[in-house]
Amino acid sequence: MSQPTIESILQENRLFQPPAEFAQAAHINSWEAYEQLYAQAQADPASFWAGLAERELHWFEPWQQVLDWHPPHVKWFVGGKINIAYNCLDRHLTTWRRNKAALIWEGEPGDSRTLTYAQLHREVCQFANVLKQLGVNKGDRVGIYMPMIPEAAIAMLACARIGAPHSVVFGGFSAEALRDRLIDAEAKLVVTADGGWRKDAIVPLKEQVDRAIANDAVPTVENVLVVERTKQKIHMEPGRDHWWHDLRVGVSADCPAEPMDSEDMLFILYTSGSTGKPKGVVHTTGGYNLYTHITSQWIFDLKDTDVYWCTADVGWITGHSYIVYGPLSNGATTLMYEGAPRASNPGCFWDVIEKYGVTIFYTAPTAIRAFIKMGEHHPKSRNLSSLRLLGTVGEPINPEAWMWYYRVIGQERCPIVDTWWQTETGGIMITPLPGAIPTKPGSATRPFPGILADVVDLEGNPVGVNEGGYLVIRHPWPGMMRTVYKDPDRFRRTYWEHIPPKDGQYLYFAGDGARRDEQGYFWVMGRVDDVISVAGHRLGTMEIESALVSHPAVAEAAVVGKPDEVKGEEVVAFVTLEGEYVPSEALAQELKQHVVQEIGAIARPGEIRFSEALPKTRSGKIMRRLLRSLAADQEVSGDTSTLEDRSVLDKLRGGA
Ligand code: WTA
Repeated sequence: MSQPTIESILQENRLFQPPAEFAQAAHINSWEAYEQLYAQAQADPASFWAGLAERELHWFEPWQQVLDWHPPHVKWFVGGKINIAYNCLDRHLTTWRRNKAALIWEGEPGDSRTLTYAQLHREVCQFANVLKQLGVNKGDRVGIYMPMIPEAAIAMLACARIGAPHSVVFGGFSAEALRDRLIDAEAKLVVTADGGWRKDAIVPLKEQVDRAIANDAVPTVENVLVVERTKQKIHMEPGRDHWWHDLRVGVSADCPAEPMDSEDMLFILYTSGSTGKPKGVVHTTGGYNLYTHITSQWIFDLKDTDVYWCTADVGWITGHSYIVYGPLSNGATTLMYEGAPRASNPGCFWDVIEKYGVTIFYTAPTAIRAFIKMGEHHPKSRNLSSLRLLGTVGEPINPEAWMWYYRVIGQERCPIVDTWWQTETGGIMITPLPGAIPTKPGSATRPFPGILADVVDLEGNPVGVNEGGYLVIRHPWPGMMRTVYKDPDRFRRTYWEHIPPKDGQYLYFAGDGARRDEQGYFWVMGRVDDVISVAGHRLGTMEIESALVSHPAVAEAAVVGKPDEVKGEEVVAFVTLEGEYVPSEALAQELKQHVVQEIGAIARPGEIRFSEALPKTRSGKIMRRLLRSLAADQEVSGDTSTLEDRSVLDKLRGGA
């Protein structure tokens, strides 16, 4: 098993047609239907999106202008008034869906809950009223640091309902990482839980919040709202910390959704880039609602009979768009699972599918590769016949893993949607429409209607068929990020200036390399910047380097990704030490732990390599290309003539 390389996927020519039965009933049911939609959207993107926005969403007041594009700043449905929580909840209450399951939840210890649309609506309204009582007003930011329990989604929807942008921080991030994000977002309140279950252990979330905000480190935080989940003992700071189950007593479940401006901020979500601290990606209301709604409907082919399960965490964009907002806006049944496959129950995902009759399953290639290792007998001993559609996201999927997923999980019956997108794009951009587009293992296939994707060189010229280049988007789309929170310059620099505007046209630069084949299918090759993907989690090498050099022993650090069979990539850190320190196994362990403390377990280096010096160019730039080859135990190839001191390379090779 390996990551797809140009060589391996150039040889990949298997083609899988949408099964006839699936296509017949699909929202988009043929290649012609897709081509027609694509052509229509390309010819007049504004009317295409406006037509859908009118048909698919509830607006309190209509917009005056569909698109206002002053590159790189965009506005969609200007002047329109809308509330995404209304679209996800209230509008279903006047239909038969009122008593349909909105959210099915399965806890890791085996407890479970199902909330109908009416029940979820009630919970959200109460939660929103409690937030208001705690002084959260429209426009105030709320930090959410939660396990995968219904209250995570309830808190998000409650924020959206009153117009308080949320900033969800993945529960696996450390107190330090949480603190940085809460400071940047200037959060007024934090929603958390006493703990959450993960791999048979309790993640002490409240304890981390205490550490993050101790000593007034985040002065904007006035209150902490705590949901009881694990019942272990935690500290409750009088006046600051409140139990959700205490505050909700007697609180009204009447809380009308606030009519928000289409361009009002819905949330901030922090993500790693190639330089500096994580960026606060800003998404707004109307465009994001439409984009997640219609991509959910067409790509997952959502029907009222479906039980849809996305295994992401709500701390990532996939959880925002495709556990919460997209599915609920469609009135679908969305399933949420608290745990992760673990030694005591490696087959837990298949148990969940069997128990609830899951019909659509959306997960990450790294999970699929882990399932392959665990063995076919786990899925084979469960009844997976309810499944009708499979999806993947987060990193390139190698054709071998695709085939295994197709054969063992999909039983050669289910189409697979390999969906390429990013935190920044808000929703899925390149993907098969399962009833319309034949799939090829390892290819995300074709752009969604309205998405003008291309592969270009550094000057912005389209490259030829099967030539590698940079993945770009040529026209704004409703779900795109609006800016980097409090840093519009960084937004411009990162996404719009790498490839200079050409003939007045701005190109959105995704940071991925790609090629396009004879049929116009996209093959995404992975990041072209210093972002690495560990188990599908996006990490900036610079963040990990900063964490390392904050340790007193470390003089300099350079982090690269090394190919890993299951995780895609693993973190390898090259470290030079301050004079008085000497390399040792104990120190390596200490440094790994230090990174866990600074960022979180997802960033833990798999390997620390001590070195007397790092290979640099004459201008002082660390030559990561060389380090990547060394980390992968490959011969260092290519040009090394710019290396300042050749002996450094020899020493590193010798395993200094
Ligand atoms: C990578 C996750 C290949 C890509 C939704 C992108 C993929 C980054 C795919 C965004 C895919 C995501 N094929 N690569 N189907 N999906 N990626 O922001 O490198 O966590 O730039 O968003 O993941 O990661 P993010």
